[in-house]
Amino acid sequence: MPARAPVLAVPGRGLVAGPVDPLAGLFRSVAPLVLDLGCGNGLFLAGLAAGKPGWNCLGIEKKEYRVRQARRRAGDLANARVLHGGALAVLSSLPLRSVSRIYLLFGDPWPKRRHAVRRLVQEEFVTLLHSRLEAGGIFFFATDSEEYLAWTREKVSASGWRIKEWAVPMTWPATEFEQRFASAGLNIWRFQASR
Ligand SMILES: C[S@@+](CC[C@H](N)C(=O)[O-])C[C@H]1O[C@@H](n2cnc3c(N)ncnc32)[C@H](O)[C@@H]1O
Repeated sequence: MPARAPVLAVPGRGLVAGPVDPLAGLFRSVAPLVLDLGCGNGLFLAGLAAGKPGWNCLGIEKKEYRVRQARRRAGDLANARVLHGGALAVLSSLPLRSVSRIYLLFGDPWPKRRHAVRRLVQEEFVTLLHSRLEAGGIFFFATDSEEYLAWTREKVSASGWRIKEWAVPMTWPATEFEQRFASAGLNIWRFQASR
């Protein structure tokens, strides 16, 4: 069976089916591309874009109401955009080696063992990380679930990435869920991986 072309909702262009360059015309200038997968309400995305005007920051979010929230929060920042779509479809539609950093922050952990297949991090996802990150690119991961941490670290390190753990918050804007978990006193685990 032929692979299904990704379908993306691109602002101003409605629904488009691949193969397309989902970023064509999205950003005003050419700059390192940074992805926030499952960007939620855009708190992190907007903070990152405001602090890093030299980066193009793209949020990807599957829930429409969250996309609306994130777009509102990004306001008129020229270097922040939000695509409505699934992270796998968007990642696979991007050119090879085109992304500088990929953040997956507090992705749904699906804690029940029988639901683990629903986690975003699977072998297919790790293969996409490999192919879409440029040389020297970095994948950042944070979670409140020790199990999802172990799952992700195992899958990412199995493909030969260097992992660096972070016990303390990195110097990045907190996400909505990070704030919630931190104020509930929950542990938060973070790592970054690069090749
Ligand atoms: C637990 S929330 C975390 C949101 C945000 N990163 C934060 O830390 O505040 C997970 C978000 O990922 C989105 N999401 C889950 N799976 C996704 C996928 N495959 N593609 C895009 N977004 C996804 C959900 O809709 C939700 O908004």
